[in-house]
Amino acid sequence: MSIIQAEHIMETHPEHARAPHDSKYANGSAFIQDHYCSVDEAGIPITDMGFLHADAAYDVVSVSRGHFFRLDDHIERFELSCEKFVLTNPYSRAETAEILTNMVKLVGVKDAYVWWCVTRGTNSNGDRSDLAGFQNKFYGFVIPYMYIAHDAERSRGFDVIVSKEFIRIPARSVDPTAKNLHWMDMKLSLGEALLSEKDWSVLTDEEGNLAEAPGANIFFIKNGEVYTPDSGCLEGITRKTTLELCAELGLPTHVEKVTADQLRDADEAFITSTAGGIMPINSVDDIVFGGTGGPGPLTATLHNLYWEKRWDGWLATPVDYDTPVNTESK
Ligand SMILES: Cc1ncc(COP(=O)(O)O)c(C=O)c1O
Repeated sequence: MSIIQAEHIMETHPEHARAPHDSKYANGSAFIQDHYCSVDEAGIPITDMGFLHADAAYDVVSVSRGHFFRLDDHIERFELSCEKFVLTNPYSRAETAEILTNMVKLVGVKDAYVWWCVTRGTNSNGDRSDLAGFQNKFYGFVIPYMYIAHDAERSRGFDVIVSKEFIRIPARSVDPTAKNLHWMDMKLSLGEALLSEKDWSVLTDEEGNLAEAPGANIFFIKNGEVYTPDSGCLEGITRKTTLELCAELGLPTHVEKVTADQLRDADEAFITSTAGGIMPINSVDDIVFGGTGGPGPLTATLHNLYWEKRWDGWLATPVDYDTPVNTESK
């Protein structure tokens, strides 16, 4: 089965055509604390603890064919991330949804990558140790949809390594279920992958159990059954979606401790992320799945079902591009 060329469809299908927009939002829009601006103008105060210490929680939701996917789930996860990091979103859930929607409308794109965060902010009395003195701040931006793996890469499948040099930061150091900005382990493992001329990396914990990949969850399939780690990773919304798609297809799923050796011995594997959906893996540590390469049949089925159901309106919130945004309203 061939992989739906989702990126090509987004670029060419009339239902994905960009809505009229002010040219200042050509590259994207942003919301900085209390006002909208273009992504090119957006900046953050240099003393904000989000920048200085990665003291922040964030989330990313996507829009395709003019509809948010699982917007409520993303906002719910975001609020939980804030709670775990003792941060308070200055905006209500409804206001957050409105800001995200307005940023999409300003850009006019039908396929969007929608990022937002709440940072610790700055302490007006200058005392960094006085948590109560901080005013938490909201920042966000919207740019055209971003893929970890483009059409050609998803069609051939990613070649990945299990990182030998780095492990995922332990959950007792930074809770991976709270979406956080501690990316250095993931970034350095990506560098390791690129140095060995591979596309992406997967990280384990200190005991060799699979954790996650940079910006994505990891899945593998063995004898028609689907496996993904139960801990040490973000509870990805695409991971949740994939488990639901497996249930719909009648594929047994296992959310449990799984090892790098099990991944190498799998029949098929893929990573999942809001930035690209379900992305097939071709090989792990030079072991090519199925011996012949390319996405396996169950991975291809899941990949295609993901986009078909999304474009069919599954768990979708439409964006009303026709009503103008009042950028003075916040
Ligand atoms: C570390 C990490 N794991 C997993 C994911 C996938 O999560 P989701 O499917 O909600 O995008 C992400 C997304 O950015 C991530 O940063």
